[in-house]
Amino acid sequence: MAGDYDLVVVANRLPVDRVEGPDGTPSWRRSPGGLVTALEPVMQREDGAWIGWAGTPGEPPEPFDAEGVHCVGIGLSAEEVEDYYEGFSNGTLWPLYHDVIVAPNYHRRWWEAYVRVNERFAQAAAEQAARGATVWVQDYQLQLVPRMLRRRRPDLRIGFFNHIPFPPFEIFAQLPWRGAILDGLLGADLVGFQRPADASNFLRACRRAMALPARRGVVRLPDEGDRQVRAASFPISIDAVALDELARRPEVQERAQEIRRDLGDPQYVLLGVDRLDYTKGILHRLKSFEELLADGRVQVGEAVLVQVATPSRERVDQYVQLRQDVEVTVGRINGTYAEIGKAAVHYLHHSYGREEMAALFLAADVMLVTSLRDGMNLVAKEYVASRYDEKGVLVLSEFTGAADELGQAVMVNPHDIDGLKDAVIRALHMPAREAGRRMRAMRRRVREHDVQRWAASFLEALDGLGDQAGTAIDL
Ligand code: ADP
Ligand code: G6P
Repeated sequence: MAGDYDLVVVANRLPVDRVEGPDGTPSWRRSPGGLVTALEPVMQREDGAWIGWAGTPGEPPEPFDAEGVHCVGIGLSAEEVEDYYEGFSNGTLWPLYHDVIVAPNYHRRWWEAYVRVNERFAQAAAEQAARGATVWVQDYQLQLVPRMLRRRRPDLRIGFFNHIPFPPFEIFAQLPWRGAILDGLLGADLVGFQRPADASNFLRACRRAMALPARRGVVRLPDEGDRQVRAASFPISIDAVALDELARRPEVQERAQEIRRDLGDPQYVLLGVDRLDYTKGILHRLKSFEELLADGRVQVGEAVLVQVATPSRERVDQYVQLRQDVEVTVGRINGTYAEIGKAAVHYLHHSYGREEMAALFLAADVMLVTSLRDGMNLVAKEYVASRYDEKGVLVLSEFTGAADELGQAVMVNPHDIDGLKDAVIRALHMPAREAGRRMRAMRRRVREHDVQRWAASFLEALDGLGDQAGTAIDL
């Protein structure tokens, strides 16, 4: 049953989404989110296969090459999109793993779809992987795949990386299927997380829910000949050199200047760039800006907030609600404070290309990353990597993985609105020398710990697990 590929990435999404034009002609568009941003440059350098869903219900496309990556599509029916993707992945796991910012829903039908779809991904991976190959499974949508794959192909080396936080056991324990999820992950040889805290939450869950010996980053499985599973942190990153080069291009710099002109040449441009997701703290950010305007600490015309929000998970209830709340809030702020030709907030509910994103980063004096919980937050790293001019100030939530690495940002607790307001003012008025010093230190960190290094360190750790990784017993 073995296939041809020595490296197989399995992720819920392919790097590109199938979209249909008004006349029904299909085309491909880059998929949203940090997972694709991180893995795409890695896979472009490798001769591997990427297994994933093309983003629309129905039959999968035939295997194809896109952006230098060999893509193998997985089909999901409309019902599976509802139950597996919108339901269990994004209505149960996503809020549960992000500190229950909104309440997770537990439905047995969603769980059954999750199991069924995970089987399909595992089967496809088993068919593509060459004998002894490495299979790298990605993220919370596919936590059962490592175990399902090991059952089919005990010859493989299996890695799993969780792009989002892994919650403390007290929260994880709510999940009716917690044992099955842990067992699914323990099918891997190496389970990677963003932060050391996520890895220790996972180890503790193995001890508490499964009564397994889990110490010093290793879980032992007595029922499997004492097979060992390693858990460790591998903070993800971006292609820093590519973004630096992009930002240096004359046309990108011109576009950055044009953006500032079009905004009315304000003294201060503040920027937020996120998927429209309740984990990102967009409402907290808007509230603090609104209060700064109300207090007279910033003036319309002098400062403008640009909020770019990629449409995301648009049929999931909490996302529908968030969009309404954001749009009402932006409307109220502009209704109260804007003047003709001088908006207080520019709200853009679109996705943009990389050049436009780089130009936006260059145009922004202050970047606001105010997530309530975030596995990493690549936007923070992208802002830093784009600022080859060593200008600009990053305001960064303590509750992001990025905060572990970018200690020179202006740190905030986004729940503390007064603290957030003070941080924004501090960022706006920061002396250029101090801003430059902080930015240089953060740029060094992002350049040295880029996405190539992340992937290499994960794959080397997986490879270095010795023979036991590749010769685990058949179950
Ligand atoms: P998440 O993975 O939760 O979406 P990250 O900040 O880690 O959050 O990654 C988001 C990725 O999506 C980044 O690469 C960012 O540049 C990209 N992105 C976010 N908003 C937009 C947008 N409006 N247009 C294009 N890309 C976007
Ligand atoms: C985050 C998740 C990814 C996901 C992305 C976009 O980055 O970690 O797994 O792909 O958001 O979300 P979506 O639901 O559109 O795939």
